[in-house]
Amino acid sequence: MACISENTENIYFLNALNLFIETQWLYNTPVTNLLTDGLLDLFPKQWLNALQILENGELNDFVVKKITKPQWSETLKNFVNKCICINQLPTMNTVLSTKLPKNFQMGLSLKKQHEIIHLTHLIHIQCAPQNIKIIVDLGAGLGYICQLLFHLYGYQVLGLEKDQATVNNARKRQLKMYPDSLTYVKYNCCDLTHNSVETIETILHNEFRQKSDVCLIGLHACGDLSVHASKIFRDMKAARVFIIVPCCYHKLSISKSIKVNSSNEKQYFKNFPLSSRLKTVINNYNFDIGLFLRQPFLRLACQESADRWCNMSTKIHNEHSFYVLARAVLQLYATKNGFFLKKRNRKGTRKSQCLNFETYVRDSLNRYILQSPRGENAEEQDIQSNFDMHEKNITQLWKVHCNKLNMVELYTGLQLMLQAPAESFILQDRLCWMAEQGLEAKIIQVMNKSLSPRAYAIVSRKK
Ligand SMILES: C[S@@+](CC[C@H](N)C(=O)[O-])C[C@H]1O[C@@H](n2cnc3c(N)ncnc32)[C@H](O)[C@@H]1O
Repeated sequence: MACISENTENIYFLNALNLFIETQWLYNTPVTNLLTDGLLDLFPKQWLNALQILENGELNDFVVKKITKPQWSETLKNFVNKCICINQLPTMNTVLSTKLPKNFQMGLSLKKQHEIIHLTHLIHIQCAPQNIKIIVDLGAGLGYICQLLFHLYGYQVLGLEKDQATVNNARKRQLKMYPDSLTYVKYNCCDLTHNSVETIETILHNEFRQKSDVCLIGLHACGDLSVHASKIFRDMKAARVFIIVPCCYHKLSISKSIKVNSSNEKQYFKNFPLSSRLKTVINNYNFDIGLFLRQPFLRLACQESADRWCNMSTKIHNEHSFYVLARAVLQLYATKNGFFLKKRNRKGTRKSQCLNFETYVRDSLNRYILQSPRGENAEEQDIQSNFDMHEKNITQLWKVHCNKLNMVELYTGLQLMLQAPAESFILQDRLCWMAEQGLEAKIIQVMNKSLSPRAYAIVSRKK
């Protein structure tokens, strides 16, 4: 996907904004508040009538392949068409073998192995024709890809990472597992911002005594880091190629938040939107994006993709809808009675308790404290009687709502259909910003989305 023409882009942004403003009921509230905020009551009746009679396979195909039926309401078919149009993300061309050398497989999940082998391949394809020999990894973590780039292709790699403990661990790992790489792969602690060009140049000079062309990369550069990286690429003369896989859009830093009511706030971000083009469309059409392009939207964009539902079994659907609805019932009970749900030290509810509400509620009451706003501590003998009372009341509430399991799964499916449009919109804004800076850029799918959901790289080469 390359940056589209100016007029097409304005229309794209406008259509996307309209889609997201119309479908807020699907993503703008945490799913735990599904019942508390009456989100299921917002389900259009005609949509529900059409979707609730689908067989399991048909529902999967609707969500994954966007297959509709001619007799469905126009509004539902329009929703699907808009999702298809706003998702401009490309699809992957080739799937490589994920076999890594033995000493690279150790301690690495299949997901991580898949990610580093595919991204390394792309980096090499982009760097080899430009004769680039040095790579700077921004947000290098433990340096998995740094080591592979050296091992497979002999690149000199500088891994920059803001967390000193992680840098130490990357060095330890290198010393133990890849001692041959010590003079070629270097790890440094550096909290990168858009102003880090000089710092990077100094470290590069200190480590490699070279001033040749470099490629800047980032694998799962979270939140603002991927935007800082784009600005570093723009400003750094020696940087010729740029390959970044962004993630965790919801960690973008907020520039301003304004309380709307006790449970809602408008949110505006420093680095989103980024392009002047999108900002202009927003201003010209008077969108108040603080109301709907908030953290829940950014979270939606970095959820798993709709592909997750490919061939999903009825059993897994049932478990999922149970888990979501049961948690929503718990939330409803807490909110109705003026309690906060506070997690105890133990982990939240385990998936293994699915499908049995009795076990679920007991386990939840062991894992959460229903705390009154005054935060009083109950006496020991009250704790057991409170436990019994809550258990009885929550179970009664479950009986009122348990007929909504199917609806919950339909809601989830519609929400999943918005994931790709949301991610596409965010990445299109970044491409557009790069074009405004005079940088040609495109988006390439690097990973298989069902293995690694944040699968897209922004790739740019300076002429
Ligand atoms: C999601 S992890 C990915 C790590 C590694 N690239 C990988 O794929 O295994 C993101 C890493 O970027 C680092 N990071 C985030 N912001 C950074 C910044 N401003 N400067 C340097 N490192 C940063 C984090 O500490 C974290 O280790």
